[in-house]
This record gives sequence, structure tokens and C-alpha cells, in this order.
Amino acid sequence: MSSRRPPGICASEITPESVWVARRRFTRDGILAGLGILAGVSAGPATAAADQAALPTITNFTPSDRSTDEPQTSFDDASTYNNFYEFGTGKADPAAHAGTLVTQPWTVAVSGACAVPGSYAVDDLIRDSQLEERIYRLRCVEGWSMVIPWLGVPLSQVIARLRPHADAAFVIFRTLHDPEQMPGQRRPILEWPYQEGLRLDEAMHPLTILAIGMYGRTLPNQNGAPIRLVVPWKYGFKSIKSVVAIEFTTTRPRTTWNDFAPDEYGFYANVNPAHDHPRWSQARERRIGEFFRRPTLPFNGYAEEVAGLYAGQDLHVDY
Ligand code: MTE
Repeated sequence: MSSRRPPGICASEITPESVWVARRRFTRDGILAGLGILAGVSAGPATAAADQAALPTITNFTPSDRSTDEPQTSFDDASTYNNFYEFGTGKADPAAHAGTLVTQPWTVAVSGACAVPGSYAVDDLIRDSQLEERIYRLRCVEGWSMVIPWLGVPLSQVIARLRPHADAAFVIFRTLHDPEQMPGQRRPILEWPYQEGLRLDEAMHPLTILAIGMYGRTLPNQNGAPIRLVVPWKYGFKSIKSVVAIEFTTTRPRTTWNDFAPDEYGFYANVNPAHDHPRWSQARERRIGEFFRRPTLPFNGYAEEVAGLYAGQDLHVDY
């Protein structure tokens, strides 16, 4: 996301976007087919939408009243315009290369300041948690946004079962580190594995979920299969993909993008239209699928629910 090492997110945003708009027109039929798939209609020819049909359906979820009713980004767009540097730095790279990721079996190592550390299969980690569809806005630090119907469980319910110690104050998440499966890790673009962290109260907030699916099916690999974090009031880089480790700590952990460029990517990374990135404004965003930019909302529109978490903090300092 920095221009210090080519090709960073910012550099790659500009050229692909024109290609992107043209490609999106071309795939309009695929998008409609994708919507048809959700209604149980046949997928038609080989498009990204057809890939969705190949993903296992998830049926045992309930809709959430925390969902936005804004128009959803198409599955085709959400699964082909991605950031997942483990598979390359271009927006199309994850969809092209993430097929090498083996997502079953998959275990998540839980460690640190909690009562029940151990190695958990994904099903065991989310057992007894409420699986819901959460239609959330996701705002990338680069200036684009999407509306995605995630399928996930409240992270608070998972954490409650892991019983953090009284002095646990932060949660760390790590992505798989395996250059065989994740060819982007053969280059030192970032310090691998990708690592993110939340303050425990942020992790326990009812908006924060661990997602296992989207658009009624399991996650495509490029979107972070088999399990990823989604924190809708923060810039997208906090929503770490393909999580293999959760660790409870007493002190604030290092995080990947903050390590890379601390003046550009803060630990909190709350969506804040009043706090510009050093190299571009954060006041407006382009919703993928739309032409005109729209104003970015504080906390990505979730201020009423989450602003209280930061009472007394100066969000220009704690960006
Ligand atoms: N997680 C890992 N492991 N690696 C990444 O490069 N990119 C982040 C985040 N999670 C990233 C990651 C960024 S910058 C964004 S905007 C979101 O994933 C994009 O999620 P999406 O592709 O599902 O829309």
C-alpha cells in the first residue's frame, strides 16, 4: 500500500482501474448469472460467477439486523478485485493464483493469555457460535469500497469460549506462512506472516466477525478462505485473511502494515475521512460498480455503534 516498494497498492490502483471498469462491463452477464445462482438458477458459461457455483453452499445461517440495506457489490467484483499480497500485489493476482491454497484441513492455533489454548479445527473454533449473514461496507485504505454479504460468527462468541485471562488486553491474528502455497511470500514485500491485532474491546464488539463465507457460500480462497476477520469500521487491511493463529496478549502487538510504514498505516486504522493518508485524501471513496465518488463516513458509517470505544482518544494521533 506504500509506493516505497513497487508495485504497492497505491501504484497498482491507477492503471488497473481503467482496465477494471472495462472488464466489469464485459462481465455484466456474469454478474447477473451470479445473482441467479443465489436464487438457485444455473450458472451458465465459465465466468467468475461460475466459480461461485463450485463453492459449497452454507445454509444454516440467519440474517442479521446489523446488515446494511445498501446495494451489494456483485460476487464477481468482490472475488476478482482483491488485496491478498500472499498471492501478488495486483488486484487480479489473488483470483488468478490463490488456487494453490489448501484450505482443508485447516487448524487455528490459539495461544497466549487465555484459559483454553490449543489447536482448533475451524468447525470447533466456531462451534456454538451464531452463524449470521452480515451485509457490511468494507472501505479499503486505497479509496475504494464494497458492500459484501459475509457469513460469519461474532468474534466475541468465539473469544468468550476461549476465556481470555483478566490481563489480556489485545488479540493478535496471523495468516498462514507457507511460500509453497502462497507464492507471494517468496518475495520480501512484507514481513511474513501477515499479522494484525485488535484491542480486546474492539475484538469483543458485536460488529466484529470471523467470516467463513460470503454470498451464501464458503469463502473463495482469494477472499481469505477458510476463515478471516471482518472489522467493518476499520480500513480493509485490518480484516486479515486465512487466519491460522489467534494469540491473546497484554501489550499492543506489532502489525504488518504499521511496521511497514507507521506514518501511513496506524494500529487503529479506523476509517476517518478527516485524517488523510500522507499521500492522498481519505475524504471520498469509489464504491466498486459506481462511477462517481461518494463521501467517506467516519468509522465507515458505523460511528453510532463504535465511536464510544475511542472516547478520550485523539484519533489524529491514534490513527
Ligand atoms: N490479509 C492478508 N493475509 N493479506 C493481505 O494482503 N489485504 C488486506 C485485507 N486482508 C490482506 C489481508 C486489505 S489491504 C484489504 S482491503 C482486504 O483484505 C481486502 O479484502 P477482500 O479482498 O476480501 O475485499
